[in-house]
Amino acid sequence: MRHGSTWVQEIVDMIQNDGDVKKCQRTNTYNRQPLIEWKSLSPLPMTQGLELAMPFPRILKTHLSVQMLPPSFWKQNTKIIYVARNAKDTVVSYHHFSKIVPLLPKSNTLEEFIEKFMDGKVLWDSWYDHVKGRWNQKDKHSVLYLFYEDMKENPRQEIQKILKFLEKDLSEEIFNKIIYHTSFDIMQQNPMANYGTIPKEMMDQSISPFMRKGMSGDWKNHFTIAQNEKFDEEHKKKMAGTTLTFHTEI
Ligand code: A3P
Repeated sequence: MRHGSTWVQEIVDMIQNDGDVKKCQRTNTYNRQPLIEWKSLSPLPMTQGLELAMPFPRILKTHLSVQMLPPSFWKQNTKIIYVARNAKDTVVSYHHFSKIVPLLPKSNTLEEFIEKFMDGKVLWDSWYDHVKGRWNQKDKHSVLYLFYEDMKENPRQEIQKILKFLEKDLSEEIFNKIIYHTSFDIMQQNPMANYGTIPKEMMDQSISPFMRKGMSGDWKNHFTIAQNEKFDEEHKKKMAGTTLTFHTEI
């Protein structure tokens, strides 16, 4: 989804492992916390999402929209951490990402990708429905709804929210370690956190790195004035009636 889910995964893994950097580098992100909807026919040594012989507490990843989640998630009050990101930065990040993953549908230009995005023709459902879906669940279930922009602006505060949600208490020293090791610059150099071990035919990072820019407001370097106006208009329509709002820069 390009919302910062890998970032949250790293934070959660570090919390679960009491800030032990070595343990968190035991294997790559996608094997530490498998994507439940992943069923690969490729030779990629990636944990198959449905083969879950994992010890408790299990930390899983999913991009599935609310309607697609297994009902047991809700019945068993599974804790869900959802990270959302403003649509424009998501578009730019997603467009770059689709160029490096051969499996993903291609758009020749950003213009084309923006049109598809506005029409909801992206993987894992319409972005607008996706972010609203979890937002609507957040007061009925155990959902911690985070924003990428808040995490950028105040990682300490947002990591604190995750700790509280997971009912973990860590020393100040470990807490600081987690902030440091999950910063963009450090994760960017960590092959276990930056998809550095994935074969090139699955993700070609020589075109654009997985950890690309890690900033808010990069859309301004990519959207034209006309694209921006059209996008804003569509956004207003699709997000009408929700209390969910985004910051498009910090
Ligand atoms: P950019 O392409 O804008 O750089 P996901 O993990 O959901 O696919 O999201 C990927 C996006 O999150 C990428 O955005 C990536 O750089 C960014 N990201 C990953 N780790 C980050 C971190 N520690 N700090 C800031 N941004 C991070």
